[in-house]
Amino acid sequence: MKAITVEPKKPGSARYEDFPEPEVGEGSVLVEAVAVGVCGTDVEIVEGKYGWAPPGKKSLVLGHESLGRVIDPGPNSSLKKGDLVVGIVRRPDPVPCPNCAVGEWDMCRNGQYTERGIKEIHGFMSERWRIEPEYVIKVDPSLGILGVLLEPTTVVTKALEQVVAVGQRAFWEPETLLVTGAGPIGLLAAFVASLRGIEVHVLDRVETGLKPELVRDLGAIYHSGSVLDLGFEPDVIIECTGVGSVIADAIQKIGAGGIICLTGVGTGGVASRAVADVAAAAVLKNNVIVGSVNANKRHWYKAAKALANADRKWMGRLITRREKPENFKQALERKPDDIKVIIQFSDI
Ligand code: BGC
Repeated sequence: MKAITVEPKKPGSARYEDFPEPEVGEGSVLVEAVAVGVCGTDVEIVEGKYGWAPPGKKSLVLGHESLGRVIDPGPNSSLKKGDLVVGIVRRPDPVPCPNCAVGEWDMCRNGQYTERGIKEIHGFMSERWRIEPEYVIKVDPSLGILGVLLEPTTVVTKALEQVVAVGQRAFWEPETLLVTGAGPIGLLAAFVASLRGIEVHVLDRVETGLKPELVRDLGAIYHSGSVLDLGFEPDVIIECTGVGSVIADAIQKIGAGGIICLTGVGTGGVASRAVADVAAAAVLKNNVIVGSVNANKRHWYKAAKALANADRKWMGRLITRREKPENFKQALERKPDDIKVIIQFSDI
């Protein structure tokens, strides 16, 4: 079969090549790939900045935002041939740490977790893949290709859950939530937040085009420019850019008792305020800054439900480009109008 592979930490090593069929040991469920979403993490891996091959191997099959069709459900699953499925990304560490021991692999404490297509386990950008039945999520068949948006939806579902958990520390009636960044994670965060009946605002650099339209069609309020220029202090900020200056502005702008959830993974940035001043403001306003990564089964379950009830037309507009596997390099390029780019392996 063919697969998109990369030699982690070796920039420019990604290729679409012949690759051995998945081994039975990788899981008793055999799946035909339908599509795989591309995200910033994939770009980082291809640029040689992130990613780990399976132990003893040189290359890693890329891809963690999967959608596939069951070819063979195997002996131990309730799946049927033809079911549309998505694979959970992370596996618990083998020790296991206390969190992995209770199924909270997203909160792994010792860093020995593994992740499909990212850290030591092959991903989903191959014509066929195998998976353990307990890590398969069946998606509503009427979602069709939109099932490929499930993985990023799990990430924002966890982020929102973290915010709610922190909020419970005191009497808490949040009225306004700001999402910074209108990429796929930002827009999906706005979607998940809008289900909670809170006033949702989204801020991005662009002034016109699909992003503002999608935000408005969600019933949310769109802003461009600086967080500091907003005419209100948000109760919650879901930070989805990973950009240093946006994070700094978010910390400055958050309201009293407010919670900032960081979901973006970036680098660099210049500290524009003295650390103790930032801390003092956080103390005096009871602010919490919480980082959030990955998702466990509870979030996958909740996200699959949210997606199944979503407006298909709105969701469909998030997928702005579909590329063939042989054109994966184009899929990894970020074009100005891109929201979610997917690599389509087979028809649906
Ligand atoms: C993935 C997560 C993963 C994280 C860190 C993200 O792109 O969506 O599942 O935990 O990268 O590797």
